[in-house]
Amino acid sequence: MVFLNGRFLPIEEARVPVLDRGFIFGDGVYELVPVYSRVPFRLDEHLARLERSLGEVRIQNPYGRGQWRELVYRLVDAQPFEDQGVYFQVTRGVAKRDHALPQGIEPTVFMMANPLVTPPAELVARGAAAISAQDYRWLRCDIKSISLLGNCLLRQVSAEAGAVETILFRDGKLTEASASNVFIVKGGVIASPPKSHLILPGITYDVVCELAAANALPLELREVTEAEVRGADEVWVTSSSKEVLAVVTLDGAPVGSGRPGPVFGRMHRLYQDFKEKVMRAGKREAVSA
Ligand SMILES: Cc1ncc(COP(=O)(O)O)c(C=O)c1O
Repeated sequence: MVFLNGRFLPIEEARVPVLDRGFIFGDGVYELVPVYSRVPFRLDEHLARLERSLGEVRIQNPYGRGQWRELVYRLVDAQPFEDQGVYFQVTRGVAKRDHALPQGIEPTVFMMANPLVTPPAELVARGAAAISAQDYRWLRCDIKSISLLGNCLLRQVSAEAGAVETILFRDGKLTEASASNVFIVKGGVIASPPKSHLILPGITYDVVCELAAANALPLELREVTEAEVRGADEVWVTSSSKEVLAVVTLDGAPVGSGRPGPVFGRMHRLYQDFKEKVMRAGKREAVSA
């Protein structure tokens, strides 16, 4: 069961006109909310980011916060599986093809839920391989746009090398990865680039920062150079589906000891415990670190 423009229906019956600007221009924004045991994780934060993305690209938000929440709950409850990735996107809508933004059209809203695939325990224990690339994406990476061609082509670089992520550098500085944020650890201090137009403000990134603060783990949000990443003791990638995952090789060279480090071990545990706490609290309550 998926949701399209006001209706719940089987995915086979969901149809979008070919002139939808999402199809023609990639003109839309999206979100992916992880759901554990039918409890959406950080739903309000995801909805706040959606609202921001819509505002930045000047697409009228078709629903209020409460309506979005209800739609997510209904979709979650309609699935036969417990852990879900709820994907939703809003495109500008259907109009005659013209670059300039059309006025007075209805946005297209599509939502679906798939089984959530998080890293298997064996990958968490062993750590992942990553490849680096130059970040050639546009300069509004803070918008969660459905125009993901740059991210897809950059992800393919690591996919072809059998690696889990592509870590991106722009002008000698770390930005993020093709579908995750990146943290490093050196001498026990965690560091990650600050939020800017060059990275997506990750919801998992925020959770990691909050958990670090709540547990007295030193963390700096500052520019991180490519040399620092290559010389780091630990490198992690974070996202709603990868959660917190250690990177143990970069371009084939070991990161630190070549094994997931102690700070990663600590943060991974904190993250799992935090998830448990959220699940226990139930789906209508906000939980802080
Ligand atoms: C480019 C990019 N950066 C970072 C993230 C991590 O964001 P979040 O933690 O909200 O999933 C994603 C997630 O899809 C992403 O696509």
